[in-house]
Amino acid sequence: MEVVVLAAGKGTRMYSSQPKVLHSIGGQAMLERVLTTASKLNPNNMHVVVGFGADAIEAHFANSPLSSLNWVTQSEQLGTGHAVQQAISEIDITTDDNQVLVLFGDVPLISEATLQDLIAQCGPDTLSLLTVVTPEPHGLGRIIRNDLAQVEAIVEHRDANAQQLLINEINTGIMAIPAAKLARWLNMIGNNNEQKEYYLTDIVALAAKEGCKVTATQASDDKEVMGVNDKVQLALLERHYQGQKMEALLRSGVTLRDPTRVDVRGNLTCGRDVEIDSNVIFEGNVALSDNVIIGANTVIKDAKIGAGTIILAGTHIDGAEIGEHVTIGPTARIRPGTILHNNVKVGNFVEIKKSTLGEGSKANHLAYIGDAILGTNCNIGAGTIFCNYDGANKHKTVIGNNVFVGSNSVLVAPVALQDNAFVAAGSAINTDVPSEHLAVARGKQRNIAGWKRPTKDTGSH
Ligand code: UD1
Ligand code: MG
Repeated sequence: MEVVVLAAGKGTRMYSSQPKVLHSIGGQAMLERVLTTASKLNPNNMHVVVGFGADAIEAHFANSPLSSLNWVTQSEQLGTGHAVQQAISEIDITTDDNQVLVLFGDVPLISEATLQDLIAQCGPDTLSLLTVVTPEPHGLGRIIRNDLAQVEAIVEHRDANAQQLLINEINTGIMAIPAAKLARWLNMIGNNNEQKEYYLTDIVALAAKEGCKVTATQASDDKEVMGVNDKVQLALLERHYQGQKMEALLRSGVTLRDPTRVDVRGNLTCGRDVEIDSNVIFEGNVALSDNVIIGANTVIKDAKIGAGTIILAGTHIDGAEIGEHVTIGPTARIRPGTILHNNVKVGNFVEIKKSTLGEGSKANHLAYIGDAILGTNCNIGAGTIFCNYDGANKHKTVIGNNVFVGSNSVLVAPVALQDNAFVAAGSAINTDVPSEHLAVARGKQRNIAGWKRPTKDTGSH
């Protein structure tokens, strides 16, 4: 079996400079979704017909794990039949049982099960169509059946007569076709129609006329076969997709305060008794262990969060590994490369980048910790800044166990604070502090007796 995905169209109604099929559903480009689903069918090749924005599309897949992608260029969009024709020379038509599965890059929610069903019906003498019954067939190709309910043809909306327009079973565009016959039929279709296009759908009448069997499987879920032509449809499918995700989470035991206000743009796995508040966005791969609580207005991307950890409202986490019984937030920012061990506490307005905090360490308020390694049970006072950048290079700060850094200190990296070191508040530390030492690095306080406050100027000289 070979897959041909049509993705050459411009997507005019998206009003975007980005090719339509790169717009995403659930955080993944529509075309990527289609190809990922198709790859589960183990096709020999996946031919992707591209035209508008071909370079951007190919670049998007440059590092894709999807194998056997074959890019086919259709420089002029002369119709769906013409598009498939561009790929046919790369498809084996010498064996009778090779088949071609045609997919659309802008029908993102098609499922593996539906496609399995479709290709199982296709054979050397059987073409199988995926259709759907819809109350709104406007603009779509109608399925024409004879008195015995056998499919005879597909007639495009713009070519249909008044009686045909009443038909509400429509062509989804997805079909499985015997390869050798497809190659022959494509040479037979013309563009003598309202749109002056080479319609792939015209092969159905050719098949029926030759006595090739045409099966039509009706999709049960119209969203699964719905194409995206504009941002309204993109948003509609996004909501549908998220709705399905949320239902699955709820059914697996996750508590969602409001399932309409959580978005998963990637993969989310949850342990038992996880609670997620409102306006939460998950991106990339996120794993939440048992009893994790996620507060409102939180964004979590590519992170692993250990059991019993609480993320308080307004927190942003990206690229971090977080241990058990950690508390973060409200309004904290955890950036890539951060590792927080068990029982760490990170409070409000704390930013941490590419740093490791050992078990039980705390930064409870207003701090920046970057490029640092902290041992266990350290306390980073409010207003502490790790100066990791000298304007040209980044440097590391290494802190042992039980270190106390007083409020409003700056630690100028590279610098090390050994076990049990204590930094007095307001210090600017640019020299290593040995174990058990107190470091004071600030101007000495002077108290001046009898000092007169300035008085208000009266205007007389
Ligand atoms: C097509 C079907 C119609 C079906 C509808 C479902 C034909 C002739 N009609 O109509 O029966 O009900 O889909 O949505 O097949 N494309 C190319 N190259 C081209 C033309 C199209 O790659 O030259 C791609 C488009 O990017 C799109 C897909 O093929 O992904 C469908 O093309 P579109 O123009 O949207 O076809 P419809 O008129 O919607
Ligand atoms: Mg369309």
